[in-house]
Amino acid sequence: MSNMTFTMIKPDATAKGHTGNILQHILDSGFKIKAMKWVHLTAQQAGLFYEVHKERPFYGELVSFMSSGPIVAAILEKDNAVSDFRAVIGATNPAQAAEGTIRKLYAASIGENAIHGSDSNENAKIESDFFFSAFERF
Ligand code: CMP
Repeated sequence: MSNMTFTMIKPDATAKGHTGNILQHILDSGFKIKAMKWVHLTAQQAGLFYEVHKERPFYGELVSFMSSGPIVAAILEKDNAVSDFRAVIGATNPAQAAEGTIRKLYAASIGENAIHGSDSNENAKIESDFFFSAFERF
C-alpha cells in the first residue's frame, strides 16, 4: 500500500460546500481516485473507525463530529501516497498548516479540520478496508 492512502472529507467541509474544491485540489496534486463514497456515519461506525483514539480526551467530541453529517471517503493512489498526501492536507491543527494546504484553506479548528489522511501505510490499508470491499475499487 505504499502507493495508496485513505482520506475522508469531513462533515464541516461537506456542510460548507467545499467538497468539489477539495476533490479538485486532490486531483490537481497528482492523486488518482481508486474508490469513493458519500456516506453519513453512525456514531457507532465513527467510534469504531477512530477506536485507536478512544483513550484521548477528545474522543467523544471526535465521534460526535464525525457522525454529525455526510462525509466523502476515498482511496487515493500516487507514489509515496501517505506522506505526499499529508503534505497536501497540512498539519492537523489548521493554525499550524502551511499556506496552500487543504486544512489552511478550508479548516476551522483542530477538531473540525476538513479532511483526514492516513498516517502510515498500515493504517491506509486498515482504513481503506473499513470502508471499501474489493468490488468497490477501480
Ligand atoms: P484526523 O487526522 O482525522 O485523526 C484524528 C483526529 O482527531 C484529528 O484528525 C483531529 O480532527 C482530531 N483531534 C486531534 N487532536 C484533537 C484535539 N486536541 N481536540 C479535538 N480533536 C482533535
